[in-house]
Amino acid sequence: MNDIAHNPRYEEIMLAWRRDPEAYWAEAAKGIDWIRPPERIFAPELGPYGRWFVGGEMNTCVNAIDRHVAAGRGDQPALIWDSPMTGRIVKLTYTEMRDRTARVAGALAQLGVRRGDRVVIYMPMVPEAAIAMFACARIGAIHSVVFGGFAAAELAKRIDDATPKVIVSASCGLEPGRVIPYKPLLDAAIAFSSHKPQSCLILQREQVVAPLTPGRDHDFAEAEAAATPHDPVPVLATDPLYILYTSGTTGKPKGVVRDNGGHAVALHNTMRILYGVDPGDVFWAASDIGWVVGHSYIIYAPLLAGCTSIMYEGKPVGTPDPGAFWRVCSQHGVRALFTAPTAFRAIKQQDPEASYLAKYDLSKLETLFLAGERCDPPTAVWAAEKLGIPVVDHWWQTETGWAITAGFKGLGLFPVKPGSGGRASPGFDLQVLNDDGHVLPPGESGNLAVKLPLPPGCAPTLWNNDEGFRNSYIADFPGWYRTGDAGIIDADGDVWIMGRTDDIINVAGHRLSTGSMEEVLASHPDVAECAVVGAKDELKGQVPLGLVVLKAGVSRAPEDIVRELVALVRDRIGPVAAFKDARVVARLPKTRSGKILRGSIRRIADGEAAAPPATIDDPAVLDEIGAVLGRPAA
Ligand code: COA
Ligand code: AMP
Repeated sequence: MNDIAHNPRYEEIMLAWRRDPEAYWAEAAKGIDWIRPPERIFAPELGPYGRWFVGGEMNTCVNAIDRHVAAGRGDQPALIWDSPMTGRIVKLTYTEMRDRTARVAGALAQLGVRRGDRVVIYMPMVPEAAIAMFACARIGAIHSVVFGGFAAAELAKRIDDATPKVIVSASCGLEPGRVIPYKPLLDAAIAFSSHKPQSCLILQREQVVAPLTPGRDHDFAEAEAAATPHDPVPVLATDPLYILYTSGTTGKPKGVVRDNGGHAVALHNTMRILYGVDPGDVFWAASDIGWVVGHSYIIYAPLLAGCTSIMYEGKPVGTPDPGAFWRVCSQHGVRALFTAPTAFRAIKQQDPEASYLAKYDLSKLETLFLAGERCDPPTAVWAAEKLGIPVVDHWWQTETGWAITAGFKGLGLFPVKPGSGGRASPGFDLQVLNDDGHVLPPGESGNLAVKLPLPPGCAPTLWNNDEGFRNSYIADFPGWYRTGDAGIIDADGDVWIMGRTDDIINVAGHRLSTGSMEEVLASHPDVAECAVVGAKDELKGQVPLGLVVLKAGVSRAPEDIVRELVALVRDRIGPVAAFKDARVVARLPKTRSGKILRGSIRRIADGEAAAPPATIDDPAVLDEIGAVLGRPAA
């Protein structure tokens, strides 16, 4: 048992929450400015499992920006945009954020956007992306940010589901060594989609000037300059703030909904108890606004708490060197850094001795938080040793919006045991269930599930799809939220995440669906059947590996087909899929009932020794796959 096994402050908070969850959340809700306080803290009869802060009225933009100006923080930077990709650093104070956000809100309103309308935001890591998100929140519009590394076809799926009135985009994104024009992708997506937005607001970056489509496209800067500042619009706590699409097990992404009130209360609460930061501190989540970590901890939570947030347009290595993270932390006085383990693996790979650290003063940096994928203990230990600060792994999902388990800096519960994701956050009654839905004792592995209701800030539903929410998350274990992760809770209450129980993989901290890649491979005219699994990767944690069986009579060179398959996935899903490895095989391992044994393929790819499953039709196939992958089957 380690010395934090019993932590009075954490246990006291957990006890208070368990004794009276509504009182706990009513207290947390005092951290938010309400226009009208909630009539009910929790209403179990609403939505798939209940709704929080029903009847309350507030505005998320006001809570994140305006109220800090009113409280005297107007001159403090709200956002520091640090872009090694352009060599620029821009600081926007809370007053500047308020004024620009109000104008962009006015520009959106001018284009007809009203409370409840959707706005898709397809932008690189530039301050205007944050401003557009807050501008939507200001007028009660629902934003849906789409990650820049997705291809046009993926963007089109999201346009069709969210049916936006307006799309906000930019002329280009910047990746090391290349400029990515966004406008052709946007135009292609709009051409593919059945729903057409009325207007697009396009930010022209100096690297590329995009031709604008007359009558539909408007220049972002001109529209902002010409707009009348828009006052904040009161919204219900239960009104959606945003939709964020995430990978499910099929090619159709899930539209995770986040509401206004619960989100603001929960995120504000985490900044002190979990991340241990105070108003005025500098907080840096090195992620992307296209992911949930970016939504929660680049955009909303730091500003809800009156901190300064860093928005970084660069990489951990190569922009220009593996000292980039240390430079940013030291230059801006970062107190807490949050990133994905893959970023640290990249730094460790290029600078194993962390020699670049000596160039920078990191005395303000207190804690490193990691999430997004399982953190291998050697990386956590390396980071802790080199930085000389506690490293906290914490586990969460797009659906929850904040950590299900964590080390709690503000409650003295840190660091966590290397390899563990910490303990359940107050609000989450986390248990391990067997496949029949029975709670397992400590130390036994099974399905990680949260007893309903989920706490504030978690998705109340999927966009226009209550039934989909029930089927995806509740149907397997009625009364519980099925996380889709397997794990163990040990005798101290520390949680060990073992990986997904479905076909979702995690590539460089990016959540991807192998099912959607299989759909793309299967659409190739020469492919009879296929399987995609996530194989272990030193840098990215996992990378997709595709196995394809060709149709009878196909005599083309396998390497040509493989090249086409790699290009097809990049074209349909996007570069973010990192799909670079496909192999042609004679047949796939299957059960006697014909189900493809993807787990067996993954184990062979990872070099794990395992006996063939009892249900396998012909164990000899495993040897064939092992031979193709150059690994023994058992
Ligand atoms: N727009 C367009 N393309 C993008 C993109 C974007 N916003 N983001 C990534 N891509 C491209 C990359 O250029 C790369 O293209 P390539 O195949 O031509 O090289 C591809 O998508 C895969 O990107 P990525 O998986 O990020 O790999 P990488 O080699 O560029 O970088 C890391 C690897 C580890 C440095 C990087 O993934 C990283 O910093 N990750 C950690 C932080 C993080 O973002 N976590 C997310 C959740 S917390
Ligand atoms: P996303 O919805 O993109 O945040 O991805 C969520 C998934 O990432 C989870 O279901 C986990 O499989 C994985 N994940 C996130 N954080 C962690 C962590 N700290 N440890 C292990 N897996 C994690």
